Amino acid sequence: LRVGFLGAPFNKGQRRAGVSEGPQAVKDTGIITTLHDLGVDVRDYGDVELDNNNNNHNNNHSKQLTDDVSDSLYLGPNGERHFQTVLTYNQRLSSKVGEVLKDGRLCVTVGGDHSIAIGTIHGHAHSNPEHQVVVLWVDAHADLNTGTSSPSGNMHGMPAAFHITNLSSRHAKLQDGFPQASLATTHLAYIGLRDVDKGERAFLDQLGIVNYGMREVDRLGVREVVARCLDHLSPSNTRPLHVSFDIDALDPLEAPSTGTPVRGGLTMREGLVVVEEARAGGHMGALDLVEVNPHLGTPTDAAYTAHAAKEIIMGALVGGDSQ
Ligand code: ARG
Ligand code: MN
Ligand code: MN
Ligand code: MN
Repeated sequence: LRVGFLGAPFNKGQRRAGVSEGPQAVKDTGIITTLHDLGVDVRDYGDVELDNNNNNHNNNHSKQLTDDVSDSLYLGPNGERHFQTVLTYNQRLSSKVGEVLKDGRLCVTVGGDHSIAIGTIHGHAHSNPEHQVVVLWVDAHADLNTGTSSPSGNMHGMPAAFHITNLSSRHAKLQDGFPQASLATTHLAYIGLRDVDKGERAFLDQLGIVNYGMREVDRLGVREVVARCLDHLSPSNTRPLHVSFDIDALDPLEAPSTGTPVRGGLTMREGLVVVEEARAGGHMGALDLVEVNPHLGTPTDAAYTAHAAKEIIMGALVGGDSQ
């Protein structure tokens, strides 16, 4: 197994400081060494920064200043907060994901808030033009708002909608057209939902997007739920799979340090079953692990949450093989 590890220390998709330290907190669990010791060929590609010229401030100083000043005021055409910054960052992230995949590695991206899935899924989908990438979204939230439907204006509540072709006309884009949508409504499925906004529920229903909330997990069991999702997304099991895992899919007892916790979530074992079964399909090309915010809760909470993230990533890459 060949893996590339990307940090996406981005926080402009929501309002709470600290989520940009998620990648470091997860790395501090020793995950890269653990994977290496298990025989995984893992390469750390470092963090994707917003500013290309981070080490070259003189070059970029005046531009940087104007961007920062205007950005704090800048709303997208439909009230999206930090619209330009979120999309510009994701465009950069998308090409980084493309590089990792081109090196023949499964791309693991650790966030950062969930708006980074605009870039990761874009990068995955557009580096696989001859195959249809499909997305398993594991989350308490649908993240399917448009600027208009969003109650918050926070773009971490919108990434899925950018990728659905039927919704993409409702989204403003960058001038060059980024991001281009790549998913039909049958190419996305949800597990773990329990806090869905009115507009999101209408989209799910109207578009017929497959979604298993906690109620279905209780009723059917998580193994059945994930089997149904995978079969729906890739009936002959040939399509590259993108798993976008928001740590708030887990119950706050398992992952307290996250910006929008919702009680009544997946247990650690249930979360692991999802990623282990996704892995067992053999076609996972990319994994996102987002919304770990080590500034929320106590230091013990933060370490516990980062460790939960490690377990989920390990489950997706090596399944139960470490036991
Ligand atoms: N639905 C809410 C919103 O649009 C919350 C989204 C939370 N998203 C997340 N990635 N944690 O603002
Ligand atoms: Mn700090
Ligand atoms: Mn969420
Ligand atoms: Mn999310």
